Amino acid sequence: MNVFRIQGGYPLNGEVPIGGSKNATLAILSAVLMAKGETVLTNFPNIRDVEVKLQLLEKFGVRVEREGATVRIDATHLNGYEADEESVRPIRTSFYLLGPLLARQGKARLPAPGGCKIGTRPVDFHLKGLNLMGANVELNGGVYEGQVSQLRGATIYLDFPSAGATQHLMTTAALADGITVIENAAVEPEVQILAHFLQAIGANIEGAGTSTITIQGVRELRGREFRLPEDRIQAATYLMMGAATRGDVTVKGVLPAFQTALVSKLVEAGAHCEEGHDWVRVWADRRLTGIRVKTMPYPGFPTDIQQPMAALLAAADGQSVIEETIYEARVGHISELNRMGARMRIEGRSTLIEGVPALQGAIVEAPDLRGGAALVLAGLAAEGETIVKNIYWIDRGYEALEDNLAALGGTIERVSQAEWEASHSAYETRLN
Ligand code: EPZ
Repeated sequence: MNVFRIQGGYPLNGEVPIGGSKNATLAILSAVLMAKGETVLTNFPNIRDVEVKLQLLEKFGVRVEREGATVRIDATHLNGYEADEESVRPIRTSFYLLGPLLARQGKARLPAPGGCKIGTRPVDFHLKGLNLMGANVELNGGVYEGQVSQLRGATIYLDFPSAGATQHLMTTAALADGITVIENAAVEPEVQILAHFLQAIGANIEGAGTSTITIQGVRELRGREFRLPEDRIQAATYLMMGAATRGDVTVKGVLPAFQTALVSKLVEAGAHCEEGHDWVRVWADRRLTGIRVKTMPYPGFPTDIQQPMAALLAAADGQSVIEETIYEARVGHISELNRMGARMRIEGRSTLIEGVPALQGAIVEAPDLRGGAALVLAGLAAEGETIVKNIYWIDRGYEALEDNLAALGGTIERVSQAEWEASHSAYETRLN
């Protein structure tokens, strides 16, 4: 196990390249099961969650070959329909394999998924949609068991525009018999990216990116080459890190349209922004001021960046409020930030923040992926040394984080926890 050791107080300056999108890749790694022939994915991210998903695909007889940022996948000879608890639990999107397995093989058995512990994260919309498409899916002893003779098109209304349910059902419908209409669909960029992939392999989809998506099922999908677009959440995290350290950071290869909500809130807090065709620059030359933020489905402020935003606002001038409307328990970062001197408390679905002049370095534990990113941001902006433990959470979704931050002038290194503990206890002994 490793920890991040961060010396805070150095402004981040410069350009940072952004790798392929985690959440788009994870959705596409379910859709690849639907195709025969080889799919070639380029700009493939080097992060833990996608590795876990590739290993899971191999368990179903899918051929996977990786060479740097190119991954070749061939699901022609799909031969399994069930996976064990250990392979499925680490990631939420293992569940999105259920529909593709039903579409290709008529049966599937998958233990309930896991993922970041940020709320209950039910799968009822997914089940409703699959059952409307003619499948019979039931939970037996913690395992979802499904069967179907032929999936058929259906009209599916989602009670909430769920990104995952939209992706799962849109993918599954691509091989169903007839027309599927998803109403109140999510409009997240990752839904649009998945639709582009499905269209590239032969699916007939209209309306992705709007709240009504229509899918006309086809008989067969064929693998193709597809470039994975850059990760908008990683990009947003670096922009916030730049602003929090009173630095000047440009993210490259990203669409400014995907950063609108973040940029407008950073400007409201007193940062500056400039953008071009495929880059966004944010800089801050003074202490930021407190603001109100409310998370919402796209194009609203993304829930995935509210935790780093809380860390940024912890040392802003005055009060801030962050209202989290998507997940009821995305709060694991708050007690850790308070260890660093932040003054935050939870009231209902909101985090109330009383800005302090500066955060202080401390030993903290990443509670989940974005909560971990929030602690790294706090460590970079804080006075003194911060140790972030449990960084396997951060490795799930941030590629080359410490290298990118070091290139921007941050002082951060990955050290083995055992080594750090040994040096830390020697230091404590000397003090006593
Ligand atoms: C995706 O999760 C992302 N994960 C999340 O990113 C992201 O936070 C979320 O979308 C919202 O943008 C992946 O793409 C792998 P949802 P997903 O279904 O699809 C409720 C990160 O940090 N709901 O849009 O699981 C649900 O509980 C991760 O990268 C139901 O009630 O999210 C939540 O309140 C974390 N029933 C809301 O909908 C369902 O069947 C939105 O969830 C499904 C969802």
